Amino acid sequence: AGDAKVAPAGFFQKNQWIVTGFFFFMWYFLNVIFNILNKKIYNYFPYPYFVSVIHLLVGVLYCLVSWSVGLPKRAPIDANLLKVLIPVALCHALGHVTSNVSFAAVAVSFTHTIKALEPFFNAAASQFILGQQIPLTLWLSLMPVVIGVSMASLTELSFNWLGFISAMISNISFTYRSIYSKKAMTAMDSTNLYAYISIIALFVCIPPAIIIEGPQLLKYGFSDAIAKVGMTKFISDLFWVGMFYHLYNQLATNTLERVAPLTHAVGNVLKRVFVIGFSIIVFGNKISTQTGIGTAIAIAGVAMYSVIKARIEEEKRQLKAK
Ligand code: 3PG
Repeated sequence: AGDAKVAPAGFFQKNQWIVTGFFFFMWYFLNVIFNILNKKIYNYFPYPYFVSVIHLLVGVLYCLVSWSVGLPKRAPIDANLLKVLIPVALCHALGHVTSNVSFAAVAVSFTHTIKALEPFFNAAASQFILGQQIPLTLWLSLMPVVIGVSMASLTELSFNWLGFISAMISNISFTYRSIYSKKAMTAMDSTNLYAYISIIALFVCIPPAIIIEGPQLLKYGFSDAIAKVGMTKFISDLFWVGMFYHLYNQLATNTLERVAPLTHAVGNVLKRVFVIGFSIIVFGNKISTQTGIGTAIAIAGVAMYSVIKARIEEEKRQLKAK
């Protein structure tokens, strides 16, 4: 035992970037698997409101088990904290359901192309809701994103308005979620925070699922799915998609705790590049040349926007330091 190599003091601090890199890797990995399994389920069980509830339910059960063994220790909650968390959870629930309505309605690659507009919505919110002045160069840098997504949408083979509009609503919801989470992030650690948000969001998602999909589910939804893939596969698919959903979101929240919001936003767009690529390969989706070029322009646009935004923030920081 005396020969055992022990990491020198400070090793873990110095290698924080390896840990952060690992967080990003796991976030992307879990997200790609989630997106593929999720769409496979919608191909034989097209009930996004119900599946959204299952995603959250599996996550909540996972949190309850984790808390019961003290990993992590449950952070206490009171009425004031709840007030801070409720708006975040409402936006999380709405963004989640609308993303899933879109996933079920159109190709996964198309939903993620529209979701690449999220930074544009964030910039609009900063200017028009939070009253922060967004420089013209930053607005201009977002133009290719809007043009690219428009080009991609016009010739998207799986296009329909339900898929398009619901993905747009999810962009708005997640933008509000990020505005409200700024306050919530300081209230407790990210794992506890995401656990409470999941619990509240679960309660928000149950009534619309019952009202909108309940009757069809009971009449033929469940029986059709079981006839197609069998009970065991149906239940295990729902369980695993819920686990992947919860874990990728928890990893995303943990990553946000470790990096600047801008890095996180860029990371989120890069994540979509992987999801778009893998989903096209796995599902063999045909995409038109214009859609391919439009998607590429949009993603390159987001990258450009991020670089310009980072530069502007750096300039601001230096001005403050003087
Ligand atoms: C969801 O189910 O909420 C969506 O997967 C959200 O997508 P995003 O985390 O990639 O924005």
